[in-house]
Amino acid sequence: MSTPFSPEQITHILIIAIVMVHYIRFLSTPQVAVTSRKSIAISAPLAVTTDLGDTYLHQDVSLLVRLIDVKAAAVIAEQRVLCKGSSRALKTSLECNGKYLGRAVCVHVTTLETQRSIQAREIPQILDVWSHDFTLTDKERSEPLVVRKVSPGTGQVLCIWEETGDSIARHVWDASLGFLIYLQQALEERINPGPKMLKTLLSRNKRLQILELGTGCGTVGIAFAQQFNCHVTLTDLDDAMDILETNVKQASPATQTKLTKATLDWGEDVEASLQQSYDIILLSDCIYNPDSSVALVRTLLDIATSAPQA
Ligand SMILES: C[S@@+](CC[C@H](N)C(=O)[O-])C[C@H]1O[C@@H](n2cnc3c(N)ncnc32)[C@H](O)[C@@H]1O
Repeated sequence: MSTPFSPEQITHILIIAIVMVHYIRFLSTPQVAVTSRKSIAISAPLAVTTDLGDTYLHQDVSLLVRLIDVKAAAVIAEQRVLCKGSSRALKTSLECNGKYLGRAVCVHVTTLETQRSIQAREIPQILDVWSHDFTLTDKERSEPLVVRKVSPGTGQVLCIWEETGDSIARHVWDASLGFLIYLQQALEERINPGPKMLKTLLSRNKRLQILELGTGCGTVGIAFAQQFNCHVTLTDLDDAMDILETNVKQASPATQTKLTKATLDWGEDVEASLQQSYDIILLSDCIYNPDSSVALVRTLLDIATSAPQA
């Protein structure tokens, strides 16, 4: 099966065997128990897993679990817990003073090494996790949504919300982080030979038209929108639209950038409004299911009619 684009147009196929990120996950989202007038407990069972959630971090790691008063942006309780290598579940319980009853808070779980990587603008080996905000009232539980924050190269923070469950579309995948590392290395000319076509396109004084297929939470397309003046259209199945809406709303696109989202199901006719003369088509982790590949190529062929230069 051939694609509609020439080998030169497919800038790079990434093989990122060395990128093995682990993710701190809430096995169930933080829950409040008001134990007395003086004390409030927040429990949050955790695990440190790969993106699929099927394997656990092998080595021991010291986790920093923090309760943050959202309005004051202040840590009101903190605990350090040892997560033993290959641990499948780690019970954690934070205690804070009863005077905080009714406050809006969130739980942030991180490691010291993760904090160091973020400051150095690198993608950390272990991604920290921020819960959704919740109120300190008895039995309150935070929503099954968490935010991942990375700062790839530019210094600008990229905040991506994902669901805590097993969804494919509403989940952050390693490939998207690998893509961010690749993009940064390409821009800094640390890849040899560099992706010339991409660099030439990005250096043009023109607002680039970018289409992303199978965007999921939107990590890759939003990173482009935050770094370059362009028009990025993020597309996926209906299933992804709510999380995408959340991520598009809280993105900080570059000043002249337009960031939009649309439903595009591979193999279906591409809507006229999406038939633009795109300069770049982004795909990250879209060939995980070989059954969809024929439909994906059909969509690429459709797009190639309006964007043969992409
Ligand atoms: C493994 S996820 C990758 C998501 C994102 N690109 C990333 O790297 O984090 C694959 C994405 O392809 C999307 N997808 C699968 N089949 C699709 C189809 N027929 N049409 C459009 N998107 C599809 C899924 O909904 C999902 O968001």
